[in-house]
Amino acid sequence: MAGNQTLTMIKPETVSKNNIGPVLKQINEAGFRIKAMKFTHLTKQQAGEFYAVHADKNFFEDLTSFMSSGPIVAAILEKENAVADFRELIGATDPLNAADGTIRKLFAESKSRNAVHGSDSDENAITECNFFFSQVERF
Ligand code: CMP
Repeated sequence: MAGNQTLTMIKPETVSKNNIGPVLKQINEAGFRIKAMKFTHLTKQQAGEFYAVHADKNFFEDLTSFMSSGPIVAAILEKENAVADFRELIGATDPLNAADGTIRKLFAESKSRNAVHGSDSDENAITECNFFFSQVERF
């Protein structure tokens, strides 16, 4: 059965362009409830730990440098079928391929500066939620 939670990060370029509010508005309007939220700045090592699954990819260095370049917002979002529904809301990884009206179509600059992260499976959602939040930080 599909889980009901997913992890998002509002990425550094979205934060620096003052787009936290508009992105959260879309997330709320799509029916997601915020169960935990943190405004934080990852170190490069932490970004590498979060994206460890991509450690062998040619974009890993760029990804971890970028994700540690400025503050981000991390949040646990709850909704039925959360992982799949959130991926639909944000659109394709590359904004050039993202559907109209999706968060990445509206706010992303490129494949590497793609506005937001969303977990890609229920299993990874659990790992990623635990990366940022202890149980007492969830409401
Ligand atoms: P995200 O959903 O955060 O998960 C992994 C990230 O790696 C992805 O968004 C992109 O920002 C980045 N990424 C994936 N593929 C590429 C690529 N080919 N070139 C650069 N960055 C990529």
